[in-house]
Amino acid sequence: MKYKIAVIKGDGIGPEIIKEAIKVLDAVSNSTDLTFDYRYVAMGGESIEKCGEAITDEAIATCKDSDAVLFGAIGDPKYDNDPSVKVRPEQGLLKLRKELGLYANVRPIKAYKQLIEKSPLKSAIIEKVDMVIYRELTGGIYFGNKGTNEDESFAWDTCEYEVTEIYRILKLAFKAAQSRSKKLTLIDKANVMETSRLWRKMAQEMSTDYEDVELNFLFVDNAAMQMILNPSQFDVIATSNMFGDIISDEASVIAGSLGLLPSASIGVQSALFEPIHGSYPQAKGLGVANPVGTILSAAMMLRHLGYPELEKVIQQAVSLSFDKGVVGKDLVESNYSSTQQIGNFISEYVASHVNIPMISAYGEI
Ligand code: IPM
Ligand code: MN
Repeated sequence: MKYKIAVIKGDGIGPEIIKEAIKVLDAVSNSTDLTFDYRYVAMGGESIEKCGEAITDEAIATCKDSDAVLFGAIGDPKYDNDPSVKVRPEQGLLKLRKELGLYANVRPIKAYKQLIEKSPLKSAIIEKVDMVIYRELTGGIYFGNKGTNEDESFAWDTCEYEVTEIYRILKLAFKAAQSRSKKLTLIDKANVMETSRLWRKMAQEMSTDYEDVELNFLFVDNAAMQMILNPSQFDVIATSNMFGDIISDEASVIAGSLGLLPSASIGVQSALFEPIHGSYPQAKGLGVANPVGTILSAAMMLRHLGYPELEKVIQQAVSLSFDKGVVGKDLVESNYSSTQQIGNFISEYVASHVNIPMISAYGEI
């Protein structure tokens, strides 16, 4: 079976971490009858330098024509520190999300028992954490009406949501809750925002179709506190674009490092897989970036393509790397493993634990 994978390395540590994820995918394809046709696409700083645009129409077309997109990271301080810049790397990612209709960003977060001591939070608080955040990704304040007036004395960003946009993300979140611990928490600011009140109303209405799911509501300020005080209360979280962006970075502290966390951005026709961390420009080229978030994103991609068994093998490899102390500089101060060493460890495990009979046994999915 052959899959077309659009690969976007992106900025900062993007190229290094993507290289390790490809190493793992190559280990999969060397041991199975899967082949990946990688189609490298520029986005972010690289694209701006080449052609003045954060992503070109041609690059978007290649992504649309692929079975999945694998993406590293985006962002460059060169642009962050200059508010007058008109074209920014992040615009490429936002445009791609919109053009591919990637409305649901799925961010699983759990505490790994081997790394529990690495989190700044107390072990007793985080040991049972296993949650998934469903962040709306193509609407809200990110994409609402925005602008700056002529003399730059006034600027605005508007949070806007249509019923259809809320419905489709809530539906995915309810279904996810049904397949997990049957608890859904909607995080919003319904005491202040109209859009939040619409989200709440719809969640209440929809909950009659998911009677086995316990639906809770939390204001985002309280949720930010609960995420630190008692994060194991969460199972599935549904939230808007901006709240999901913030809450998921906060939740990453539970896993011990932002560098470990993967995500899937799901649309109707397309899907994109990326770690939740940023481009970490200070670490670029130093071999200290943690590739695990990207490797686990590639694993989520394999599940999406119909191979959950392959995702499991990669997750086992990651877990074993923690057992063996093969962890990055973000988790240990001395004797840390480099980006490449972590990628080698995981891909070697995968190469020796995946084989054609396993795929055949898995059937025709
Ligand atoms: C993320 C990132 C992006 C976002 C940035 C790079 C535009 O922080 O994927 O969480 O805000 O969505
Ligand atoms: Mn973010």
